[in-house]
Amino acid sequence: MSRKILVTSALPYANGSIHLGHLVEYIQTDIWVRFQKMLGNTCYYVCADDTHGTPVMLRAEKEGITPEQLIDRVWHEHKADFEGFHVEFDHYGSTNSPETKEFAQAIYRKLKAAGLIEVRSVEQFYDPVKNMFLPDRFIKGECPKCHAKDQYGDNCEVCGSTYSPTELINPYSAVSGAQPERRNSDHYFFKLSADTCQQFLREWTRSGTLQPEAANKMQEWLGGEGESKLTDWDISRDAPYFGFEIPDAPGKYFYVWLDAPVGYMGSFKKLCDAKGINFDDYWKPGFDTELYHFIGKDILYFHALFWPAMLKHADFRTPTKLFAHGFLTVNGEKMSKSRGTFITADSYLKQGLNPEYLRYYYAAKLNGTMEDLDLSLEDFVAKVNSDLIGKYVNIASRCAGFVNKIFNGKIPLVRIGSIEDENGKRTAPNWSGLRGIIHSSEKIADAYNQRDFGKALRLIMALADETNRYIDEKEPWVVAKRALDNSAEYDNLADCCANALNAFRLLTLYLKPVLPMLAENVETFFNIPPLKWDDAQTLLSADHHINPYKHLMTRIDQKQIDAMVEANKQSLEPATDTHSPARHAEAQQHAIAPIAETISIDEFSKVDLRVAKIINAEHVEGAEKLLKLTLDIGEAQPRTVFAGIKSVYDPEKLKGRMTVMVANLAPRKMKFGLSEGMVLAASGDAPGLFILSPDDGAQPGMRIK
Ligand code: MSP
Ligand code: ZN
Repeated sequence: MSRKILVTSALPYANGSIHLGHLVEYIQTDIWVRFQKMLGNTCYYVCADDTHGTPVMLRAEKEGITPEQLIDRVWHEHKADFEGFHVEFDHYGSTNSPETKEFAQAIYRKLKAAGLIEVRSVEQFYDPVKNMFLPDRFIKGECPKCHAKDQYGDNCEVCGSTYSPTELINPYSAVSGAQPERRNSDHYFFKLSADTCQQFLREWTRSGTLQPEAANKMQEWLGGEGESKLTDWDISRDAPYFGFEIPDAPGKYFYVWLDAPVGYMGSFKKLCDAKGINFDDYWKPGFDTELYHFIGKDILYFHALFWPAMLKHADFRTPTKLFAHGFLTVNGEKMSKSRGTFITADSYLKQGLNPEYLRYYYAAKLNGTMEDLDLSLEDFVAKVNSDLIGKYVNIASRCAGFVNKIFNGKIPLVRIGSIEDENGKRTAPNWSGLRGIIHSSEKIADAYNQRDFGKALRLIMALADETNRYIDEKEPWVVAKRALDNSAEYDNLADCCANALNAFRLLTLYLKPVLPMLAENVETFFNIPPLKWDDAQTLLSADHHINPYKHLMTRIDQKQIDAMVEANKQSLEPATDTHSPARHAEAQQHAIAPIAETISIDEFSKVDLRVAKIINAEHVEGAEKLLKLTLDIGEAQPRTVFAGIKSVYDPEKLKGRMTVMVANLAPRKMKFGLSEGMVLAASGDAPGLFILSPDDGAQPGMRIK
């Protein structure tokens, strides 16, 4: 019986690029969905950008555009990244949609009617420099539980505990660095501590909706029977905020995590409207449809506590299951920008690397648990080359040529020990191995269904090994030489090709959820309609006409990997990537030095800052840190300035560039000569030094004020 399934992946934030860590989730969801579709189940896969919140607001402000413009641009980037990796959503939306707004407000109204919303005055941190209340993520300080330094205001990445930002020790604003003030404001709370929520969540945890590890976490969060460890959830934020206004609460907005999961509904609603699907079948209780959320373990709390409690008390269905996965490490370590292992989806594709390599590697590593998984770049190259090229594709490339050369492009008739089909045509399965491949269909399907893709691929590769051993034994390349003038050899070759190509077709079918494009090319080669799971019970009939074999996949070249890592390292360098969104997002969240003491405008105007053109830049003999710059600021004679930027700038790249200098600084005599001013550069705790650039159009000598 066909199932009706709605599947989601977590909605990626609209303030950063998709990277290989994200893809662990989207690729695995896509594989599962493609598998369900191949089985003939009705399965919809929706996702959307998670657009609201302060980071998006601040970043748009920084770029001088509206949040709407920013999220529109990022939406297109994300969409292209996902398409590049063959992640095929039935709909990819945005949480900033009328549908999501309507559902969010409707859910809120229901919760309110159920007495689960409470308004309380809350003392919160306020940034006196930025004039805004500081969201949890923009306050940092010491974790009150484990005393780890520089933790965010909402949860500790070291010990995993959640708390309110006012509990942080020595807090500071991550936006301005200022010491935040405490101010009062009314906040709206979802009463998660209410009996009805606690009871419901206890039941829900026990009902098999969670993986064992996730259920354990939940027990921890919920506490023992009679205990009530859950605290109410603050769902409002004060203006200025990019989000949805709370009904009847002017100046108050839904906290981004309230409307984010509602985005699942909003996105699905768009699909329903386009395709005539009945929305309620999938979101109201009492239907035989299934709802699955694929998520990373970091957002389990939101999906296992808040989300089901919201749904339950707003008369919607709750998820059938949450599928939580672990985090990606690269070469055994957390992804790192300085090591070049913080690899963006875009940079992978730009390197010309086949997305199916990564899909295969991730699939091989996934087992349906919450364990972290490692992308070892060396192993990646070795495994893809050995499994996909060396084992699987090899089967076709060893046998396909003969079909064209010797059997007129037709799957040959098998004569030795063959079995007749109902039409009296003799088909291929006279090699027992082929029957084994057919019979593995159920086991492999089981593994896919359980999201143990690693197991599915191990089974498939074992079958590929067996097929290769069969070909080794039959030696078609030897037999083929005599096939045209020796009928016994002709039959041997026919056997081998028919068996091997049928095996190849079945293996392709089994790999299709993971390698959809490759499978499509194989379908073209075999001249067959798209493979469905049921097709595993059939074989290519004799005389079936196939197309000439074209090379299906090339080996990974280690050089491409090296270049990709290098490219991701370079993206940290100022000259090449001043506009990287990831850098902006990261920079915002970095701790900054405290702001200096206030000065008057008169004091400021004492500093004469000028636009300068770097007309020459060169190394200085014997100087470890200095470059000698020749600067044109519109005066008769250029100035000479020694700047300590040798470690980060190649003098050749500076020539011709515009920057900013202090023009009225007293000249300073240095070991290497007289320095007639100072070039400005930004730096923080993290390594890196960044000289400034004026916008296009600024001329040498212009004053900066
Ligand atoms: N916007 C929220 C999700 C809202 S869902 C209603 C969010 N966004 S995210 O962009 O940070 O992450 C999106 C998904 O990618 C999450 O499930 C997250 O766990 C996953 N991953 C992000 N980095 C990851 C790794 N390094 N490894 C594996 N998964 C990772 O969270
Ligand atoms: Zn901690």
